[in-house]
Amino acid sequence: MTYKRLVTLARNALTKSHSPYSKFRVGAALLTKDGKVFAGCNIENSSFGLTICAERTAIFKAVSEGQTHFQAIAIATEQREFIAPCGACRQVIMDLAGDIDVVMSTRGGALKVVTVSELLPFPFGPKNLRKRKTGRS
Ligand code: THU
Repeated sequence: MTYKRLVTLARNALTKSHSPYSKFRVGAALLTKDGKVFAGCNIENSSFGLTICAERTAIFKAVSEGQTHFQAIAIATEQREFIAPCGACRQVIMDLAGDIDVVMSTRGGALKVVTVSELLPFPFGPKNLRKRKTGRS
């Protein structure tokens, strides 16, 4: 699976976006280590804070189907500039997928690949919850 193809799948997912409030359509496509793709779009809600981003839709779909090993996530929008995942999605991607490639794209078809650790240096993660010294119990 090329990253160009993964971006095409993210762009297909964008067409399912439910974004009547922002009218900002986003699609994501998450590639597993064994070559499966889980796609997702942003889904907004009239109670705005309940909106979910495309990246988290894709990753929650994959994890809920039992996937644990990932290679890359592609993001597609209709913008001329590269759009990077929001802070919440950076945390969720790092936590559940680790330091994978993030493939950003423009509507013209340009690609830019970065890693999650470039987008989220010094992350909080599951390791921080192990071997804690609570001072009690
Ligand atoms: N959004 C995403 O789906 N992914 C991002 O990385 C940035 C923002 C969505 C959330 C909301 O539906 C719309 O884009 C505008 O913020």
